[in-house]
Amino acid sequence: MSVVRLESVGKSFMRRDGEQLEVLRNIDLDVPSRSIVALVGASGCGKSTLLNIIAGLVTPDQGAVFLNDVRSKDFKDWRSMTYMFQEDRLFPWRTTAQNVGLGLEAAGVSRSERRDRVMAVLELVGLEKFADAFPHELSGGMRSRAALGRSLVTDPTILLMDEPFSKLDPSIRSQMHDEVLRITGLKAMTVIFVTHDVEEAVVLADKIVVLHPRPGRVREKRDIALAYPRNPLSPEVAEQVRLLRLAL
Ligand SMILES: Nc1ncnc2c1ncn2[C@@H]1O[C@H](COP(=O)(O)OP(=O)(O)OP(=O)(O)O)[C@@H](O)[C@H]1O
Ligand SMILES: [Mg+2]
Repeated sequence: MSVVRLESVGKSFMRRDGEQLEVLRNIDLDVPSRSIVALVGASGCGKSTLLNIIAGLVTPDQGAVFLNDVRSKDFKDWRSMTYMFQEDRLFPWRTTAQNVGLGLEAAGVSRSERRDRVMAVLELVGLEKFADAFPHELSGGMRSRAALGRSLVTDPTILLMDEPFSKLDPSIRSQMHDEVLRITGLKAMTVIFVTHDVEEAVVLADKIVVLHPRPGRVREKRDIALAYPRNPLSPEVAEQVRLLRLAL
């Protein structure tokens, strides 16, 4: 079964001067259950737009989107999908636990169940000792964990991430990669993420989709058949990184 399938998706935006800007053309994508797909490409090639289309936030002009083999417009189970944005978007006036519990509050989950589920997620992302800390009291990596926790608290099966770790130091980013692999493996999640960082794509993804700009088209789809965990310093990873840089 494919969790996400795009068939000939196209999208244009009307610019303020009245001209049509074609952002995506003829995008085909098939994301099987439990796979990790990376979207890479130059700035402005439509990666975020593509993620927004999958999330149902942007409607395509052409083509069709299927989620769990159901037409996106007929899809009901939006709670199974979560979206981690580039900025952590934590509320400064809420503690870590309150930020992480946001999705449960919105879903009307009772206070006691909320507390249990939030604590379980805080443990999962290694923040159990910081439940009562405010975002300004957390390091960049911890904020990133909190944002990941907030995305996971509703038990989604599809995780969309738009350059979620791009602002982190390389060593912290690498820790977050390990965390994402551990957690999404444990929870049997399907992941689609956007990145500028080719090495990040090779370390995490089993399929990498290279987009070309203006309009955004699929330039190449590359399967990465290396075993996890992948060492960024290994010659196998370096070779894939080199090939991708050529494709870009
Ligand atoms: N709502 C919108 N209205 C008009 N134009 C838009 C809108 N959203 C995106 N665009 C345009 O679509 C193009 C692709 O934008 P998008 O954000 O998808 O690119 P991206 O690949 O994510 O870039 P980056 O790597 O810089 O984040 C850009 O030229 C952008 O200006
Ligand atoms: Mg973007």
